[in-house]
Amino acid sequence: MSLTDEGHYGPKQLHMLEVIWGRGYLSPGGSDEIDQIIGEFDLSNKKVLDIGCGCGGAVFHMLEKHSVAEAIGFDLETLVIDEANKIALEKNLLDRASFKCVKPGQLEVEDESFEVIFSKEAFIHIPDKVELLKDIHRALKPNGYLAVGDWMRNDDSIPSHQMKEYIEAEGLDYHMCSLEKYREILENSGFKVISMSDRNQWYLEKVKKEVADIEGPLWSKVVDAIGVEEGKYALNIWKKLLGVVEKGEHRPGNFRAIKI
Ligand SMILES: C[S@@+](CC[C@H](N)C(=O)[O-])C[C@H]1O[C@@H](n2cnc3c(N)ncnc32)[C@H](O)[C@@H]1O
Repeated sequence: MSLTDEGHYGPKQLHMLEVIWGRGYLSPGGSDEIDQIIGEFDLSNKKVLDIGCGCGGAVFHMLEKHSVAEAIGFDLETLVIDEANKIALEKNLLDRASFKCVKPGQLEVEDESFEVIFSKEAFIHIPDKVELLKDIHRALKPNGYLAVGDWMRNDDSIPSHQMKEYIEAEGLDYHMCSLEKYREILENSGFKVISMSDRNQWYLEKVKKEVADIEGPLWSKVVDAIGVEEGKYALNIWKKLLGVVEKGEHRPGNFRAIKI
């Protein structure tokens, strides 16, 4: 049994994550964390690409709160793209938001076509960060802005046994690297790094609360969403996640860079 036995971001995974992280989000922190990732950069009237947009939470936030002109979300999974389109319709945002189901690999976009590229917790699924950042550099306009949040590791050595166990329980393709590795790749790919922030301590407090909420006030919602057995399985994953965050090996991080 696994939350991913109907696909990586299949119905069970989506329902579970919606209960814990809110509608439109497949990663923690909601709109506050999106603002943390974006920083002070003025997004108004800009054209933005969100790589691995999931159900569109960040796209909607950037359109509604940052006055983005147009936001395009790319994702591999039809189910999440369908959900993003459904929410966009409800929010009456389909004139400025669009979502596309893409294949892994090179971005299906023209050279220098975006002023801003954003991504949250999606790079973790992409094995070749060098090719990814080279391609993002190609897709950005000169002086274009890259703002990313990702789940990273403390370093680039072989993951510990505890980490491997956690990743196996998740059942997702995880290719985690360190924040410093991202710095090196960004600098070698023609970016000027503006900021990098380690979010381990922030997420540690959050994930403790997530575990307490799943066991406590959210339990009935979790059961309604995925059933008792799957709920227990999900709780076990969250406890393993808490273990590797607490240990300091699992380190969410954010970075911002400019194309030079
Ligand atoms: C943890 S979810 C995060 C979704 C969203 N960014 C959020 O924060 O709610 C990761 C998403 O990345 C997508 N993904 C994985 N590999 C991808 C790729 N190569 N290109 C685009 N999306 C990808 C997955 O399908 C999934 O929806």
